[in-house]
Amino acid sequence: MAATWTPSSWQSFPAVQQPSWPNDGSLDQALKQISSYPPLVFAGEARSLQNQLAQVCSGNAFLLQAGDCAESFEEFSANNIREKLRVILQMAVVLTYSLGVPTVKVGRMAGQFAKPRSSDTETIGGVEIPSFRGHMVNDPAPVSDARIPAPERLVQAYHQSASTLNLVRAFVKGGFADLSRVHAWTQEFVASSPEGQRYEQVATEIERALRFMRACGVDTEHTSSLHETDVYTSHEALILGYEESLTRQDSLTGGWYDCSAHMLWIGERTRQLDGAHIEFLRGVGNPIGCKIGPTTTVDYVLELCKTLNPAQIPGRLTLISRMGADKVEDSLRPLLRAVRDSGHPVVWACDPMHGNTFTSASGLKTRHFDEILREISGFVNAHRLEGTWPGGIHIELTGDNVTECLGGTDDLTDADLTDRYQTVCDPRLNARQSLDLAFGVAELLRSSGFA
Ligand code: PEP
Ligand code: CO
Repeated sequence: MAATWTPSSWQSFPAVQQPSWPNDGSLDQALKQISSYPPLVFAGEARSLQNQLAQVCSGNAFLLQAGDCAESFEEFSANNIREKLRVILQMAVVLTYSLGVPTVKVGRMAGQFAKPRSSDTETIGGVEIPSFRGHMVNDPAPVSDARIPAPERLVQAYHQSASTLNLVRAFVKGGFADLSRVHAWTQEFVASSPEGQRYEQVATEIERALRFMRACGVDTEHTSSLHETDVYTSHEALILGYEESLTRQDSLTGGWYDCSAHMLWIGERTRQLDGAHIEFLRGVGNPIGCKIGPTTTVDYVLELCKTLNPAQIPGRLTLISRMGADKVEDSLRPLLRAVRDSGHPVVWACDPMHGNTFTSASGLKTRHFDEILREISGFVNAHRLEGTWPGGIHIELTGDNVTECLGGTDDLTDADLTDRYQTVCDPRLNARQSLDLAFGVAELLRSSGFA
């Protein structure tokens, strides 16, 4: 840890997973340009999210963090953003209705453009080329030239984030998220399915409840929380130069905020206690997350809490466990116990995706719906046994009808994967699988006595 934190103090610490940018001044130029641009989010919004996450901390709300593994420069349209938002809103309705607590909605959206890789290079057709590191860094085409990191991509990522955020704000405040439209959120390909029909039932009951409230004299027309909502943004804070260039001092409090998104998280591969990523994020006022995999020890997690949240502010720190379905219960319980006994307030979220990825016979990376749900089941059970609140889920999904994850009510098989395998990185749940998962999660929580 640096004696004094500054937006650039991370530069004196080892930063893993950084691209080998060209040494021609183009990186500095791109970062200078972004530093001169307006912030994407405001400090006050990050504080509002932190307050909502404090409610999750105390067991009075549930966190739904969801979106692409990696956003794409090519798959960038109003349709794409709207469909993703639609499935997030539908999942949130199912969860809120079933659990009886608010769902805090955070997208892996409007900035999720950089990926950590297990190897710096990959071999394609016998040729070794640099790995793809996300559209913010290089081009996925499997040729060497395309993979050279290009700093102007950072500027493009900024602009795409700004447009995405603009549309998200317009949708959630401009009528799209109005609860009187719960029925209208169902897409055609979902409506015909069993989970779509289950959703329709929930939507009908919500409409009935709204009519009941009006009949009792409640002014639903002028209750803004029924007509609009908040959807916050988040991404992995991986490329630290980019994050630094959007870190600004809040004029109201004097604190520093990373204004590239409301919430930032540290990945499983960059969470070294003496590394640059932790040094950077410990100093910004945003709510932050940290992924923790199956090798996480009690000592590590307690040190992490002390480093990232020394003032023990509820909502400041979300620990996102990604253990794998087989390991989750045993790996998580000692951590839950230790953090609970230390008195550190944290939001516990379950990422059931990254510990359950495998390469199928067809050679494509995939995940099985049943394993995803099984990890959440182990997560919920660990919390039940330790008397802590299973605060939320962290999911990779898309609103499109893709075939990337196996199983679900459609029971997608290996042979189906090649039909519509469109992700630029990890396999995502499609809209039907996502809705199915929301019902599954609600049931798990209810049957464990959490709702
Ligand atoms: C991710 O969230 O896409 C990711 C790379 O996760 P992790 O850091 O947990 O492996
Ligand atoms: Co991923």
